[in-house]
Amino acid sequence: MARVVVARELPRAAMERLEGRFELEVNRGAAWSKAELMARLAEAEGLICQLTQQVDAEVLNAGPKLRVVANVAVGFDNIDVAAATSRGIAVTNTPGVLDETTADFTWALLLAVARRVVEGDRLVREGKWKGWDLMLLLGADVHGKTLGILGLGRIGRRVARRARGFAMRVLYNDAVRAPAEVERELGVEWAEREQLLRESDFVTLHVPLLPETRHLMGARELALMKPTAYLINASRGPVVDEAALAEALARKQIAGAALDVFEREPEVHPKLVGLPNVVLAPHIASASVETRTRMAVMAAENVVAVLEGRRSPNLVNAEVWEKTVARGS
Ligand code: GLV
Repeated sequence: MARVVVARELPRAAMERLEGRFELEVNRGAAWSKAELMARLAEAEGLICQLTQQVDAEVLNAGPKLRVVANVAVGFDNIDVAAATSRGIAVTNTPGVLDETTADFTWALLLAVARRVVEGDRLVREGKWKGWDLMLLLGADVHGKTLGILGLGRIGRRVARRARGFAMRVLYNDAVRAPAEVERELGVEWAEREQLLRESDFVTLHVPLLPETRHLMGARELALMKPTAYLINASRGPVVDEAALAEALARKQIAGAALDVFEREPEVHPKLVGLPNVVLAPHIASASVETRTRMAVMAAENVVAVLEGRRSPNLVNAEVWEKTVARGS
């Protein structure tokens, strides 16, 4: 029986896909350190890991028998895919199943910051609310405004679709322009990045973390935004230069920000923590019971597929497939 290491316990439905099929080593406690993870990989053919596990070349080398690393996430910037590929190790992710849930949460962030929901909650809990007041916690309207989407992929498109209900004008920019029928169907307009930043009341980020998207939003880009505009980030922390954002917010260069992701999670730039016009969430955009279960089941099925010699539909490095098949299951 192949040995599979599950670096954090998964929901029951996912564990059931693995039990009886593999010899399992499951972490039911606190997250393993890198050394603890490495110590468990000596005999492992499969590894199921989460975003907090850095699976770099050193970790991969601790698992000489590894054939698959399954990330329970759509993003896979925590894994050194090039190193895995050179070793012939399949890397899989969980695309598709979290798009709607992540788009829902993007709107939760956007509405929360625009309408000052978190500040209001704090006021009530702290017993400081004195009753209805015409001028209390005035926020910004969302309906009828302009939404700018950077990254019109699976998640960005679902965010765009929801903007219709708010009668918004939607601009987008992406490395590749969407086909005209997609633009028509979603009701979105292509804009150069600068134009999008200048014209949007809300800028929302839905790009993967790549060398070319690191600090996509830096001091220069933030300076192009309107002083009344908000930045929403439910993609990856390093897409935003957090220090530059904290500075822009402190100087009221933009009106506010709502962030689900940070440059050095779980650390948050200390300046951001002290600012009232920022909503801070602990990387939970895909965290609904249904979606997190679907993601875990998908990761388990990805491991089953590869270790049973079938091609997983969620291979990140499809080029290793021939090698994996050649080695047999
Ligand atoms: C979460 O951030 C994911 O990539 O699935």
